[in-house]
Amino acid sequence: MRVLGIETSCDETAAAVLADGAIRSSVVLSQDAIHGLYGGVVPELASRRHIEVMLPVVRRALDEAETTLDGLDGIAVTCGPGLVGSLLVGLSVAKAFAYAHRLPLVGVNHLEGHIFAGFLQEPPSHPFLALVVSGGHTALYACLRPLDYRLVGQTRDDAAGEAFDKVAKLLGLGYPGGPVIERVAGDGDPKAIAFPTAQFTDQLPDFSFSGLKTAVSLFVRRHAPLPPALTADVCASFQATVVKMLVRRTIRAAGRLGIRKILLTGGVAANRALRQALEAECGARGYGWTAPPPRLCTDNAAMIAAAGTARLARGERADLTLNARATFPLA
Ligand code: KG4
Ligand code: ZN
Repeated sequence: MRVLGIETSCDETAAAVLADGAIRSSVVLSQDAIHGLYGGVVPELASRRHIEVMLPVVRRALDEAETTLDGLDGIAVTCGPGLVGSLLVGLSVAKAFAYAHRLPLVGVNHLEGHIFAGFLQEPPSHPFLALVVSGGHTALYACLRPLDYRLVGQTRDDAAGEAFDKVAKLLGLGYPGGPVIERVAGDGDPKAIAFPTAQFTDQLPDFSFSGLKTAVSLFVRRHAPLPPALTADVCASFQATVVKMLVRRTIRAAGRLGIRKILLTGGVAANRALRQALEAECGARGYGWTAPPPRLCTDNAAMIAAAGTARLARGERADLTLNARATFPLA
């Protein structure tokens, strides 16, 4: 089955072609240069950029896969959660193509897409626990059977990626924050500053990053202007604190649920310190773990085509009333 995936939920314009679940092309056009000027995504600018580049991005994905719209068996498009103005661009294009070429259409939840990124190379077998960590979400899902998700825990305030982006902005390091903090942290000491980890009295495997962000903000204000060595220590200590919270709670939830396999995915899953810490903790307990390669952790359309392939194979079809959803819980 040949499926075109289209993803425009935030600030990446992406299209990809999968043939029987294998990537034939994956084109991602980042808008980082546009939003970098503002230290975060500006929704209207994101929609306007999507509409300029969507068709060339799809054309390139089809050309690289050596196919045409008539050579496809279906189209999968992200319909939420995300920025509505951005989602509408991808949805309109997907619907127009599906209508004109009489192709089956399916709407995909972006978070399910991130989980399916884990199936593109080394698919984990069920049951597994998925830690989805991105700029908009931080959540744990028990994946007991294919296409069946139970929400186990989630952030009570900011998403982990959002915390990386805000701390990078505080430090004047630019956008997106994750990659630059990871790079600067390489020169710092992760034990230099003891930032707080959130504690909950109810013992749920939830996350919270707003207290950490405030602690970093207070530290930066107290020590301004920060010399480069101290900036590196802040980055390393902040990153280590985020990693500790994510890994500890995930391992604890896996233990409680009796699930011995973990899938790490979403943009923050590109972070090497996080991957290494999860690998070490899983190794110590004999748990299995997997994560997509970094380029498939961040937003892309191959993951949307992968989830769409599974849903189309089950006979799911969207009609032309398919709409954008700013919030769209996966479970
Ligand atoms: O999944 P994604 O591309 O978009 C959303 O669905 O939100 O995730 C983007 C987020 C951004 O917050 C970015 O700073 C973060 O992922 N990110 C990273 C790294 N690469 C991207 N965070 C930590 N370390 C990285 N290497
Ligand atoms: Zn995402």
